[in-house]
Amino acid sequence: KPFGWGDDVRDYIRTIPDFPKPGIQFRDVMPLFGHPRGLRAAVDRLVQPFAGLRIQHVAGLEARGFIIGGACAHQLSAGFLAMRKQGKLPGPRLAQSYALEYGEAVLEVHDDAVEAGEQVLIVDDLLATGGTAEAAVKLIERLGGEVVGAAFVVDLPDLGGRARLERMGVAVHTLCA
Ligand code: PRP
Ligand code: ADE
Repeated sequence: KPFGWGDDVRDYIRTIPDFPKPGIQFRDVMPLFGHPRGLRAAVDRLVQPFAGLRIQHVAGLEARGFIIGGACAHQLSAGFLAMRKQGKLPGPRLAQSYALEYGEAVLEVHDDAVEAGEQVLIVDDLLATGGTAEAAVKLIERLGGEVVGAAFVVDLPDLGGRARLERMGVAVHTLCA
């Protein structure tokens, strides 16, 4: 079998209750990313709908999106675009604040990271409220880039992220709920 015994990414994602705050059911993808065939399976399945499109950059959302987004960029022979938490990028940058399931944050990108008209694929481990991904879409569009889609290993559909991104016209691809 190409991946594990069960051939299902869900089998390698665990739920940890009350992390990082009481009441949050934290979906931990690290066992999947740590599995030699699991990481490849996740990458292959995430990029599959986007292979053959002319994608210049994969935008990975700090921090877990850097792991899977970097691997997806390599797989697509695209460059990697770092969407970072506030205060980490050294050069001139754009900032976008957003709310997430358990707090508030600011996402930043270097202001010369995308050329006008370039095609960008957003990749992250998990889609919850969609606040983080929406901030990424806004940053890419402020730079003049075009978002070809957004791919996530896990979707938490009750939190509405998919609907929120689709309302913005973004094609959403997820591997499991
Ligand atoms: C998690 C996850 C997504 C985001 C999803 O990251 O990796 O980026 O939350 O939530 P949303 O759809 O409600 O915006 P987190 O902010 O915990 O950062 P980390 O990757 O640095 O742990
Ligand atoms: N990011 C936002 N909500 C999350 C959750 N429940 N598990 C893991 N990452 C998350």
